[in-house]
Amino acid sequence: MEIVVLSDPNAVADFAAARVCELLDGKPAAVLGLATGNTPLRLYAKLVELHRAAKISFREVRTFNLDEYLGVAPDDPQSYRSYMQRELFAKVDIDVSNTYLPVCGEHDDPRDASADYEGRIRDAGGIDLQVLGIGRNGHIGFNEPTSSLASRTRVKTLTADTVAANSRLFGEGERQPDMAMTMGIATILDSRYAMLLATGTEKARAVGAAIEGAVSAMCPASALQLHPNASFILDEAAAAELAGIEHYRSVHAENSRLTTKFGFF
Ligand code: PGA
Repeated sequence: MEIVVLSDPNAVADFAAARVCELLDGKPAAVLGLATGNTPLRLYAKLVELHRAAKISFREVRTFNLDEYLGVAPDDPQSYRSYMQRELFAKVDIDVSNTYLPVCGEHDDPRDASADYEGRIRDAGGIDLQVLGIGRNGHIGFNEPTSSLASRTRVKTLTADTVAANSRLFGEGERQPDMAMTMGIATILDSRYAMLLATGTEKARAVGAAIEGAVSAMCPASALQLHPNASFILDEAAAAELAGIEHYRSVHAENSRLTTKFGFF
């Protein structure tokens, strides 16, 4: 695992955006796995900036989002489809018909919708770069604690903790969904590169458990220890509980020399 500790959330976004740029430079038709939530907002803003400066194009890119709420229509402002439109898709040159979220319509059998999503990812050739956030409880996507490490796309019920953490995004009297369709942990582990971003002290405990704790369904992000090519890109606050932080800093300094010379991908 690559563990990168940077000064603040802006540096995390810059670093992550540079990785996306490098991938698209070498593979303009790359397949990106995308995440929603607060953490990737700065990354998307950065990608929009780079696009406006003509440094990056999404014309041939296909995207698959980690998750989508169940029972929330795509055009509902609270849907993750709306979030993606707002924060990225409408602001870059991506063909929206090449962007996918795990949607399950009211009359669809969730098992069919899940299998369909997995099939689409496979047909696209798999995910080249998966962006991830991490929940305070260690979740990735909506794979809450106790999610099988072998899970694939399916419907999950959110924990009370996750519902509480997301309640800030819902107005008074607005219905907050407590179910979602999410890529599974095995789906995420299939990505060729996974890049987990975490910022802020409220993530420090989950980050510590994911990197230095045992691989456990109680901390779904710890499954990234099984990923052959995963990075944790952290700000100081999110890295605060890492016992090995000084070692990670020196490893990163060494690795940077190599990636500057030979590239990361
Ligand atoms: P956040 O969510 O980026 O809004 O903190 C991350 C997550 O729950 O995966």
